[in-house]
Amino acid sequence: MKTLGIDIGGSAIKGAVVDTATGEITIKRYRIETSQPASVNETVDIVKQIVNHFHWKGKIGFGFPAVVQKGVVKTASNIDKAFIGANVNKLFKKATGCKVNVLNDADVAGYAELTFGKVSRFKGVAIFLTIGTGIGSALFNKGKLIPNTELGHMFMNHGLKAEKFASDAVRKSEDLDWAEWGVRFNDYLLYLETLFYPDMFILGGGASKQYAKFRKQLTISTPVSPAKLLNDAGIIGAALLA
Ligand code: BGC
Repeated sequence: MKTLGIDIGGSAIKGAVVDTATGEITIKRYRIETSQPASVNETVDIVKQIVNHFHWKGKIGFGFPAVVQKGVVKTASNIDKAFIGANVNKLFKKATGCKVNVLNDADVAGYAELTFGKVSRFKGVAIFLTIGTGIGSALFNKGKLIPNTELGHMFMNHGLKAEKFASDAVRKSEDLDWAEWGVRFNDYLLYLETLFYPDMFILGGGASKQYAKFRKQLTISTPVSPAKLLNDAGIIGAALLA
C-alpha cells in the first residue's frame, strides 16, 4: 500500500510517498524549510503545501519532535511551546481532510530501522537514538515499540540534560571536533547502558552519518550500529505506522 509519510523536524518539514510493504520511497521527497521554531499556523500551512504537492487523498503518517499521546502534544523542547496541549491528530486531519496518525519522530524512525534497516527483525532489547538538534529515543523489545521514551532528557552527572550535552547541535555550537564530541556521546551511552543493559544501540539522525569519525571513542560493551535509512527513516516509519 502507498502511504504519505511526513517528518516534522526542527528546521524543515519533509514528506514522501512510501510503499509500506517494501519501505521504498515511490515518489521522491519534498522538503520545505521552516522558521526555528515554526509556529502552529506555519506548521499547519506547510503540511498543507506538502499534501497538495503530492495531490494526496489517502492516509498520512506523521513523525513529530515531541511526546505525542493519543494525538496530544505533551512536550516542546525544540519546538514552539504553543504546541503543548494541541491535538495534532485533529489539527492535521482538519487541515488535510485525510486520515492521519501523529507519533513521536524518534519512535517512527526507529520503527522504520527495525523493520527495513540493517537490524531488521532484531529480537532483543534495542535502543534507537536520533542525534540532531535534540536527542530522540525509541525503545524496542523483540521488535515491539515502547512509545514516548525521552532518553535525551536524562540528566547527566554534571546536571545537564543529555541532549544539551551530547546532541549534534551542541557539537556545532561548542565547536567540538568529532573525537571530543564522541567522548561525550560515549559518556551518554555508558549511562544508558548501566540503566537499561540493551542488546544493541542503533544511531540515527544527522551525526550518525559521520559514525566513522567518532566510533573509536565508543568504549561501551553493547554493540552499536549506525542506522541505514538515515534521512528517510522518519518519513518511512511515519508511513508504516499511519
Ligand atoms: C524531543 C523528543 C524528540 C527529539 C528528536 C527532543 O527534544 O523531546 O520528543 O524525539 O527531540 O526530535
